[in-house]
Amino acid sequence: MEKGYKASITGVGSFLPEKVLTNDDLSKTLDTTDEWITKRTGIKERRIVENGVAASDLAVEASLRALDDANVLPTEVDLIITSTITPDCLFPSTSCYIQEKIGARNAGSFDLLAACAGFVYALSVAKSFVASGAMKTVLVVGAECMSKITDYTDRSTCILFGDGAGAVVVQQGNGGREIVSTHLGSDGSQAEILRLPAGGSKLPASHETVESGLHYIKLRGKEVFRQAIINLVDVVTKAAADNNMQVEEFDMVIPHQSNIRIIEAAMERLGLPMEKAYVNIDRYGNTSSASIPIAIDEIEKGQLLNSGDTVILVAFGGGLTWGSSVIEW
Ligand code: COA
Repeated sequence: MEKGYKASITGVGSFLPEKVLTNDDLSKTLDTTDEWITKRTGIKERRIVENGVAASDLAVEASLRALDDANVLPTEVDLIITSTITPDCLFPSTSCYIQEKIGARNAGSFDLLAACAGFVYALSVAKSFVASGAMKTVLVVGAECMSKITDYTDRSTCILFGDGAGAVVVQQGNGGREIVSTHLGSDGSQAEILRLPAGGSKLPASHETVESGLHYIKLRGKEVFRQAIINLVDVVTKAAADNNMQVEEFDMVIPHQSNIRIIEAAMERLGLPMEKAYVNIDRYGNTSSASIPIAIDEIEKGQLLNSGDTVILVAFGGGLTWGSSVIEW
């Protein structure tokens, strides 16, 4: 068990763009149906940003709501960590844009990349900074404009993703939901099954990369599906064991929202009923690193948990990466 100061989530906020893209909308331009998408993914609709809106714009709204919820001024933030695979640009970091827009003039800022597992990774980093005493107040953001890296002519990927942002404030002390533990994992040997090939130093953007659609997400769905279940189950089991708990003792599982069938299969293998899993994939699709903080915000606003409940956040994504975090509500 980690030592040091307690680190707690003292505020949470989220923001979703207004524009809704339904399965029926997609079926007007693609060879697909609402029935196929719902059955294979659990997704009914997703939110999409208007042209000109970037990840930092969504992040700012979510961050201000989280700071307000925590009763913390932007000037009191020591550090901003943003998890995103759709940054405003390659550099400077999206966190720097957020820092400027919210007026967090005393904060350090950086982005973290662990794809759909990124929010759990960022929360883990925030916990470590706070637990060590190096920082008192950290803003952790998950913000994505997945629509900007999605090929809307590819029916096997474009049905999955949506845009949105969520943020939490992590502070020293036990005046909130305590982050009890975090577990992280990765497997770079499987990097090719889920990635965005072009636009980096290996394959810089060019006419050819754009013409070949290499600036869009590429995924090998079936392989990702299989790996997700294996690693989600493993990292929940590990977290329970390290906290001297049985998995049945978790009052709620808050999984990354990638596919309802992935969540169902993982819950079944863990021996947990689906009622214990929080699901909103039907409304937002896969918002990558924004999905967990959006879920936490909905759970908080809906008062779906009681003080003292034990919850596990669990996520899986490209890299491959995965992680879990146990929270005492
Ligand atoms: N509508 C209708 N048919 C579709 C379709 C769509 N939107 N997308 C794919 N199909 C077709 C395929 O072309 C294939 O046809 P074929 O049998 O004639 O070749 C058939 O449906 C089955 O495709 P398959 O890819 O085997 O389906 P699946 O059950 O694996 O579901 C995903 C596809 C993408 C929904 C699923 O694999 C998945 O969710 N994977 C993980 C998602 C992911 O990577 N998330 C990000 C990481 S967190």
